[in-house]
Amino acid sequence: MDETARRQELILEALHTARSMELRAIQQYMVQHYTLDDLDYGSLAGAVRTIAIEEMRHAEALAERIKELGGEPESRLAGPVVHGQGVDEVFVFNAELEEDTLAHYNEWLVLCHECRDKVSAALFERLILDEQSHHNRFEDTDRHLRTLGTSFLARMAGGGAD
Ligand SMILES: [Fe+2]
Ligand SMILES: [Fe+2]
Repeated sequence: MDETARRQELILEALHTARSMELRAIQQYMVQHYTLDDLDYGSLAGAVRTIAIEEMRHAEALAERIKELGGEPESRLAGPVVHGQGVDEVFVFNAELEEDTLAHYNEWLVLCHECRDKVSAALFERLILDEQSHHNRFEDTDRHLRTLGTSFLARMAGGGAD
């Protein structure tokens, strides 16, 4: 295998793994959206749902790039989807998930630069900005839950999922 083909294979592997992480996040956030909605925390459910939709866009963008490089998008999930989390568990869990995603995407951004693949690098740069924003939003909510507790939850109760 020549150097160019080897580089392309490494990038494709990163894109596939990134997509499996996005697919897992989508499933996880959708489960949480329904759980939070059932608990009547409409505003919190809506916030998680919004992020799930952003992850869908990420999965789509990664699939497009995989196809451009001659690959076939897969449907595997990077990890298990956890059910039955309490409101106190969801946001700290998600902040950690986003942190893990950020660590990987930053590594793959470096790989893209090393392989001189500017298009994939630009994609990872864009995703990193979004994941950083997700991480901050999850962490802020978790902090509010811990510091304000029931008064914060009372404000989040009711309302639609939007
Ligand atoms: Fe994402
Ligand atoms: Fe994210």
